[in-house]
Amino acid sequence: MPTIPVARLHELVLTIVRAMGSREEEARDVADHLIGANLAGHDSHGVGMLPDYVRMLHAGLLVPNQELKPLRDAGAVLVLDAGRGFGQAVAKEAMRRGAGRAKELGAVVLALRNSAHVGRVGTYGEQCAAMGLASIHFVNVGDHMPHQAPFGCGDARLGTNPFCVAMPDGKGGASLVLDMATSAIAFGKARVARNKGVPVPPDTVIDKHGRVTTDPTALVDLREGALKAFGAHKGSGLAIMCEMLGGALTGGLTMQPEHEQHHGIVNSMLSILIDPASMGDPAAIRHEVEAIGQWIKASPPAEGFEEILLPGDPERRAKAARQAEGIPLDDKSLADILAAAESLGLLRSRLDQTLGR
Ligand SMILES: NC(=O)c1ccc[n+]([C@@H]2O[C@H](COP(=O)([O-])OP(=O)(O)OC[C@H]3O[C@@H](n4cnc5c(N)ncnc54)[C@H](O)[C@@H]3O)[C@@H](O)[C@H]2O)c1
Repeated sequence: MPTIPVARLHELVLTIVRAMGSREEEARDVADHLIGANLAGHDSHGVGMLPDYVRMLHAGLLVPNQELKPLRDAGAVLVLDAGRGFGQAVAKEAMRRGAGRAKELGAVVLALRNSAHVGRVGTYGEQCAAMGLASIHFVNVGDHMPHQAPFGCGDARLGTNPFCVAMPDGKGGASLVLDMATSAIAFGKARVARNKGVPVPPDTVIDKHGRVTTDPTALVDLREGALKAFGAHKGSGLAIMCEMLGGALTGGLTMQPEHEQHHGIVNSMLSILIDPASMGDPAAIRHEVEAIGQWIKASPPAEGFEEILLPGDPERRAKAARQAEGIPLDDKSLADILAAAESLGLLRSRLDQTLGR
């Protein structure tokens, strides 16, 4: 697959987001986030999302340059409405505000409702960790057709409702980041598989008759069938709780059918930010976190495994490799991005020049 140097792809995203109407700071937040998701190995939440964002912009379902609207500010509880603003910018700003409060009070519960797609949720876990905070994030998806079949369901009833927990390393980074869709695979991974012409992993997708299939084509092209919840009834239960906490409790858009769908992507997110210093000795907590990690990693690998990884390890490795080698982007994904850019009035010759072609 062709790879594109990181700086060139970043410049392309900046050019497109500026053309969408975003002011410079927002364009940079979006570009940094999308490129960061690709670097972390999550192509499903990287630059490949741009055609969807441009489609939503044209339909009035994504609004550049939104300011967060505080709906409630009660000390350790902050409720913010994002007005369908660019998720990568409004969620980043929400975390910044929540972090200040968590440092002051020890912890904060932050409800962010009605954001356009927030992207890779781990980014916010990492942002909190960089500020020395542990964080938990429950996210739901609204205004979009459901993609995920909860346990036992023969069709889709929920979004892929991601969940994230991150622990700070006390050195300005994250020691562990668990960041995952509650569906067996993220929808974007089915899209990437479809674009590459490869099957999805077994037992992750059902067809329109509720039968398991490894062919993502009908799901991606015709929106038939569904992604299964991960981990049988347990993962499905977590997906349902993301809907309850991320969607219902925050006052965001849920998937129940009284809400009309306009084919946007609205994420609502309940985040809990905790300052370890409010719980005990941060150095002792850090020691425990490291020691437990080492204890787990020291296990003899089970059959079929070469080594033990912790949550966040695969993303760290992908980042190191891709920063050096560039970001792989299949031809269809790139063609879709360029077509979306042209729909904003950008000239193909200028886009090609940005990509160094
Ligand atoms: N905004 C949205 O609406 C939305 C919806 C769904 C998913 N997402 C995002 O999609 C991205 C991809 O989600 P996913 O579920 O496909 O992720 P994934 O399955 O690739 O990884 C899930 C988690 O497992 C860990 N992991 C992976 N392989 C491992 C291994 N071998 N050993 C130990 N740990 C391992 C990863 O570090 C990660 O924390 C996430 O960033 C998520 O936030 C966003």
